[in-house]
Amino acid sequence: MKVERPNKAVTIRAATAEDRDAIWKIFHSTIAPGSVFVYDPNTSREEAMGYWFGPNTLTFVAEREGAVIGSYILRPNRPGLGAHVANAGFMVDPDARGGGVGRLMGEHSLSEARRLGYRAMQFNFVVSTNTSAVRLWQQLGFQIVGTLPGAFRHAEKGFVDAYVMFRSLED
Ligand SMILES: CC(C)(COP(=O)(O)OP(=O)(O)OC[C@H]1O[C@@H](n2cnc3c(N)ncnc32)[C@H](O)[C@@H]1OP(=O)(O)O)[C@@H](O)C(=O)NCCC(=O)NCCS
Repeated sequence: MKVERPNKAVTIRAATAEDRDAIWKIFHSTIAPGSVFVYDPNTSREEAMGYWFGPNTLTFVAEREGAVIGSYILRPNRPGLGAHVANAGFMVDPDARGGGVGRLMGEHSLSEARRLGYRAMQFNFVVSTNTSAVRLWQQLGFQIVGTLPGAFRHAEKGFVDAYVMFRSLED
């Protein structure tokens, strides 16, 4: 059976204030299991949106047929003398995962980061048991450059490692 990849119907655009409801819904369902993001599953909407639309942060959404099904943020990893390295965060609606949306946003973030003049992209805290994310980032050229032993308190698995992942944009 041929599995349809819905990429063609998915567009990525800058997020607006009207997207907050949809983004919060995805954010909330992403943090609820306590398995991929450091945010406490009880994080409030105000706190979550304050972060997702924070200062120096570009926020994008992936949209299919008028519905927001994913979102990512792009920002400097560190201020000042570390600001030439980008950082990004991604989440796809649980119902839309595995359909190519994450890859599309990842590729979009890399080309945006290049366009903005960043020299590299770094993820500071990829949960080692989050195999979808680790595989995707590796496929997009990221390497695990560090392992933080037991740095994440997984809701089901207990203390698990987190990875620092890095990709140069100088190619
Ligand atoms: C990680 C995430 C953004 C990936 O988005 P997605 O739309 O599900 O991923 P895609 O369908 O684009 O798949 C891209 C690649 O991810 C990996 N992947 C996706 N689902 C996977 C699964 N169930 N098991 C293993 N690898 C998987 C594969 O490498 C896949 O490539 P392939 O299809 O060529 O094998 C998404 O699963 C998500 O929102 N997870 C929760 C939040 C999160 O973990 N964010 C990233 C934190 S670092």
